Amino acid sequence: MTTINTLTLTRPDDWHLHLRDGEALKAVLPDSARQFARAMIMPNLRPPVVNTAMAMAYRQRILAALPSDLKFEPLMTLYLTDNTSAAEIKQAVASGVVHGVKVYPAGATTNSDSGVTDLAHCKLALAEMEKLGLPLLVHAEVTDAQVDVFDRERVFIERHMLPLLKDYPALKLVFEHITTKDAADFVQQSPSNVAATITAHHLLMNRNAMFVGGIQPHHYCLPILKREEHRLALLRAATSGQAKFFLGTDSAPHAKHTKEAACGCAGMYTAYSAMELYAEAFDAVNALDKLEGFASFYGADFYGLPRNTDRIQLRRESWNVPTHLPFDEGSLIPLRAGQAVAWKMQRL
Ligand code: NCD
Ligand code: ZN
Repeated sequence: MTTINTLTLTRPDDWHLHLRDGEALKAVLPDSARQFARAMIMPNLRPPVVNTAMAMAYRQRILAALPSDLKFEPLMTLYLTDNTSAAEIKQAVASGVVHGVKVYPAGATTNSDSGVTDLAHCKLALAEMEKLGLPLLVHAEVTDAQVDVFDRERVFIERHMLPLLKDYPALKLVFEHITTKDAADFVQQSPSNVAATITAHHLLMNRNAMFVGGIQPHHYCLPILKREEHRLALLRAATSGQAKFFLGTDSAPHAKHTKEAACGCAGMYTAYSAMELYAEAFDAVNALDKLEGFASFYGADFYGLPRNTDRIQLRRESWNVPTHLPFDEGSLIPLRAGQAVAWKMQRL
């Protein structure tokens, strides 16, 4: 097999990104905008982005924070609550700036306390989304304290995904940041209105990474890293060339002192070198030829948006990720801090 040393791709998009707000937004936005043309912006701010007016205002703050030499289109999402109305969904679609609605089971992850307590409360909103083709983006973990943290995604499939698809068979649904073989199989076996995003960190690491040489708070995220067999299943899905699996970094910045704490926050900051990390993961299984579809085509196709036309280049070249980055208060530790990444990206 010949070794590939450079790879030219259509400019990619990130279909799952946390940009935060204020000074934090200013600090992280250029990292994503250097690589990605567009990103699906998660709505878990405090307070959460629950209506179109808030989404439009947040979009303006993102555009205002964008350095003038970068082009980037934020695709907005609403945060589903027990009270989201059908009228709100209609308005979201009519706005042209809202491209999805995110469901966080209440208490599942960072800033999810206003999340949905029971999907039965969201019938009118979900029916309207099904009718208008507005995708539902699902954080698919049960919050039941009886369920082992490593099983929460699998149990969500039985308890919530199957009933959801039975009740709303035409609903466009993205199973966000899948982390298990169970989720990959479920998505693969579902009809074409069901897709999934996959992060770089779940392709590169298994749960051992949280405990090498001591506890590693920067490898703690939700859904939590899983066993090696699950990582391998995700790699197979991502490199399968199937249009249902596409890139979503779930890059989720938290200041260093809030992660290196007695009760540390969940989330990894991968945006700094996201495309390089994905290239490493695909290269490791000789599937670089599948990266462009996953990173640049299938997400846009699923959301009914045009593919990008500009290009980026990835070169096989080892470089070291900075040990820390400036952030809101204190600093931000990127994934691979102070360590080598095997690929280097350039915009063309
Ligand atoms: C995310 C965050 O920090 O906003 N954290 C994470 O671990 N991925 C929330 C989320 O997507 O679960
Ligand atoms: Zn997320």
